[in-house]
Amino acid sequence: MTAFRKPQVALTSKAAPFAIRSERAVDVAAREALLDACFGEDRHDRTCQRLRDGRAPAAGLALSAVREGTFVGTVRLWHVSAGGRPALVLGPLAVDPACRELGIGAALMKQALAAARARRHDAVILLGDAPYYARFGFSADQTGALMLPGPFERDRLLAIEFTGGALEGAEGMIIPTGARLPKRRVVRPLEAHAA
Ligand SMILES: CC(C)(COP(=O)(O)OP(=O)(O)OC[C@H]1O[C@@H](n2cnc3c(N)ncnc32)[C@H](O)[C@@H]1OP(=O)(O)O)[C@@H](O)C(=O)NCCC(=O)NCCS
Repeated sequence: MTAFRKPQVALTSKAAPFAIRSERAVDVAAREALLDACFGEDRHDRTCQRLRDGRAPAAGLALSAVREGTFVGTVRLWHVSAGGRPALVLGPLAVDPACRELGIGAALMKQALAAARARRHDAVILLGDAPYYARFGFSADQTGALMLPGPFERDRLLAIEFTGGALEGAEGMIIPTGARLPKRRVVRPLEAHAA
């Protein structure tokens, strides 16, 4: 007689659940390290960074993914004017390379878009890979006459409208309109005071 063997269920690390929550101050260092790893330390030279420099993200629209107590993903959205139309720009979106293909990127996107819609924003724009973002409803249909303050690939400028016609006929430069962050105080070395 063949002995019945109870199946062994091994909970691999891939099975660990994750959560999406509002970004906290404690996430910032890990977020910056993840973005450096994903986009390179010269990421601050990228065109979309011009829409974020010195600005705060839109209220309630900076999200972190956390898995087993560790920060593993980020997405933020920013106020812009898109040729005069109020909108948000999404980015950067990044997930820890060790935690990819688990649906964390999709969860960050879905939660960010739901939160933006709930806060009555009309449209979200981003610069990214159409084959990835099409699944969330993004297309280049309404961005053909919009510009960014720097070089960009036209077929990567994508948008989704929550309010029909929000970007219809939108034309011109996308510029930042978010709240300005307080300027950093320059801390002089002690020697300068002592001299
Ligand atoms: C893009 C990114 C956020 C996706 O995160 P993730 O947690 O692995 O995403 P999900 O698990 O939700 O989805 C994985 C799916 O997206 C697909 N995908 C990932 N990146 C893609 C891309 N650039 N183009 C097309 N599809 C892509 C995967 O092939 C996979 O497809 P499947 O569902 O058919 O198997 C992650 O790969 C990442 O951080 N990349 C580096 C930073 C980056 O490129 N950010 C986006 C800027 S365009």
